[in-house]
Amino acid sequence: MFVLAHLSDPHLSPLPSPGIGELMSKRLVGYINWYLRRSPHHDPRALDKIVRDLQAQQTDHIAVLGDLINISLPAEYPMGRALLIRLGSPENVTLVPGNHDAYVRTARETYLSAWGEYLLGDRGTTQGNPFPFVRKRGKVALIGLSTALPTLPFLATGTVGKAQLDRLAGLLPALEREGFFRVVLIHHPPAGKRKPHKILTDAAAFRAVIAAHGAELILHGHDHRQSHLAIAGPRGEVPVLGVPSASAPPADERPAAYNLYRVGGAPGTWTCELETRGFRPDGTIATLARSSLSEAGLSAAPAR
Ligand SMILES: [Fe+2]
Repeated sequence: MFVLAHLSDPHLSPLPSPGIGELMSKRLVGYINWYLRRSPHHDPRALDKIVRDLQAQQTDHIAVLGDLINISLPAEYPMGRALLIRLGSPENVTLVPGNHDAYVRTARETYLSAWGEYLLGDRGTTQGNPFPFVRKRGKVALIGLSTALPTLPFLATGTVGKAQLDRLAGLLPALEREGFFRVVLIHHPPAGKRKPHKILTDAAAFRAVIAAHGAELILHGHDHRQSHLAIAGPRGEVPVLGVPSASAPPADERPAAYNLYRVGGAPGTWTCELETRGFRPDGTIATLARSSLSEAGLSAAPAR
């Protein structure tokens, strides 16, 4: 049994005070938006409780699905690093970046330098393009994509891009042949409906790669809501799951929660049990739901 935890979108706060020069970019819109609209939905005390609850669970690995920070201020990256270190060592914690981690052009360099060990493949380097990366942990292979690109103000779209999709199309069958339970990590959801300014621009191309080569599980962030969808794989449906922001307070419309996936079995007989833990209205954290993801394409025998 391998236990994988999935949390996302902590949007760490309080937001550090920016210099005037640091706001001469898309950050200005993001800064105003943070105070007018976003900040009530993210409470560091809520995040602290969620992290403590997660640390009390028996997990083998933690996947963080992006948006550690808000407007990519230089002073936000050490906050992100501190959270990652609190969650665990780079060996046991994997990150993919979100659009708020890459708000401006210089952000990519900064997150690769501040958080690099957490988003590198097993033999990775931050030189060139580290995405998609692969991390093999027990029977699980984590495949991390980046959809995080600087976009114009008011846009929160993401793009995988042809280069990553081509590499993904090569990795998925190879990892299946090696007998791994393949978990794709991607910040922007590749399924479901959302407003045009928040979409994954090449979701259809991503789904085509999964339809051809399959995966056992696809995990995402971005929507700040519990979500359980599926997309077509070559032998059945592939579950696509999202979680609320890890810092949403208990009184929020979508309180913080995280998922635990217990992966068992072997190729052709995979099992995956889902447990969701998060805030109840009284502010305590409990198991909110349990279900089995095993009915979908997981138990179908791999093609020979
Ligand atoms: Fe987010």
